[in-house]
Amino acid sequence: MTQGPLTTETGAPVADNQNSETAGVGGPVLVQDQLLLEKLAHFNRERIPERVVHARGAGAYGTFTVTADVTKYTRAKFLSEVGKQTETFLRFSTVAGNLGAADAVRDPRGFALKFYTEEGNYDLVGNNTPVFFIKDAIKFPDFIHTQKRDPYTGSTEMDNVWDFWSLSPESTHQVTWLFGDRGIPASYRHMDGFGSHTYQWNNEAGEAFWVKYHFKTDQGIKTLTQAEADKLAGEDPDSHQRDLRQAIERGEFPSWTVGVQIMPVAEAAKYRFNPFDLTKVWPHADYPVIEFGKLELNRNPENVFAEVEQSIFSPAHFVPGIGPSPDKMLQGRLFAYGDAHRYRVGINADHLPVNRPHATEARTNSRDGYLYDGRHKGAKNYEPNSFGGPFQTDKALWQPVAVSGVTGETEAPSHAEDNDFVQAGNLYRLMTDEEKERLINNLAGALSGVSRDDIIERAVNNFRQADGDFGKRLEAAVQALRG
Ligand code: HEM
Repeated sequence: MTQGPLTTETGAPVADNQNSETAGVGGPVLVQDQLLLEKLAHFNRERIPERVVHARGAGAYGTFTVTADVTKYTRAKFLSEVGKQTETFLRFSTVAGNLGAADAVRDPRGFALKFYTEEGNYDLVGNNTPVFFIKDAIKFPDFIHTQKRDPYTGSTEMDNVWDFWSLSPESTHQVTWLFGDRGIPASYRHMDGFGSHTYQWNNEAGEAFWVKYHFKTDQGIKTLTQAEADKLAGEDPDSHQRDLRQAIERGEFPSWTVGVQIMPVAEAAKYRFNPFDLTKVWPHADYPVIEFGKLELNRNPENVFAEVEQSIFSPAHFVPGIGPSPDKMLQGRLFAYGDAHRYRVGINADHLPVNRPHATEARTNSRDGYLYDGRHKGAKNYEPNSFGGPFQTDKALWQPVAVSGVTGETEAPSHAEDNDFVQAGNLYRLMTDEEKERLINNLAGALSGVSRDDIIERAVNNFRQADGDFGKRLEAAVQALRG
């Protein structure tokens, strides 16, 4: 902003910003005090709806650098050359808390990354966990209702949380992960990120691959115990946000080593797990993580509302060479985010500086709507046209996927080793005894807040099916706490 006198919204100089205009000394306030009316009215409209999930977050700009050749798997231009750099914006978040909630809580962390590529913005909207609680988008609103405030009590209720999880055995893997050490990262810098879903890469020759993204923190994993987090959340609700901003201000730029697991399409049908099931990982022994990039965050936003609150990310924002998989969760998300953006930020959300392409321009025939900035000037707004308007390429971003059968409300196909407990049990057995002890204490602490025995028993039974020892120890720990 340039220096000079304070003005009204329309630029007229302000004479007095301390006293409103009255009819006589001590008399009522006058409607002709435009400054007062304008200030009060603008203030009332400062908020936009918070995100329905992941409301609480922090963001930073950065640079993605390609470190290994992946051109035999994808034709995405931003990945076309070793050394090539692309500007990025990453928004971290917690999931369940509202906008003002504390950062240091047991909750997955969002890891939403925007690549400003020369072929358009590519958004990878992931989490710090490789899996999720459910595997069909139709269950997402129900799941989130149990994580948010109860309609009667107005508080988060452990009864609701555990009722839903215990009735959704597919959540056992993610819940085991969440109540383990990694469930409360010490900061956004000290955690990994994952694309979580399976996505498609496709190369110049038209071959397709199924891929899973991994972002390994170069700062090392650091976590908080439940007791440490409870204390920090009370003392400094903004702990993660502050840590990220201050690290970047100090020039300590956090970075992640980026890798990908790659499955040839032909192997998907006979793989031992359904490769599109978001409650499962692909064990690294089956598909090793191939390193191909480095992500560094190196610039703080100048204005949190404009650049973080109004930022929008969508799993449907693909670029040539990258596309969706048939994962039923991902398919639901392809709709949900654009819809949320249109409601939350408005129909021209894509035009805001943080959201628009930075390395190319958007050429559409969409026009007008609230807060349209006139960017298209007098250009024709239809296609085809004879006035040099933008044209289609006839080249799909991703390769077609073979399907068979008839329509219906079907479960995703089951593979040889698919069940809801096998990977939860594997995760438990991988833990050291101290890690198991902390996991059990964390779970028992949360479960003992549930009022109904049948819900507790059903929950314990899910962990028992994952691993007998896990169930036995958890049952004893809950009993000890409940007396
Ligand atoms: C079908 C399941 C899901 C649905 C319907 C859904 C829906 C949503 C919606 C509506 C938002 C708010 C978007 C906005 O207002 O800008 C959101 C945010 C977010 N979701 Fe999901 N979500 C689902 C599953 C997931 C999964 C599996 C992940 C991670 C792997 C994820 C990661 C995120 C992240 C990181 C954000 C915050 C994005 C940001 O920083 O702006 N979500 N989700």
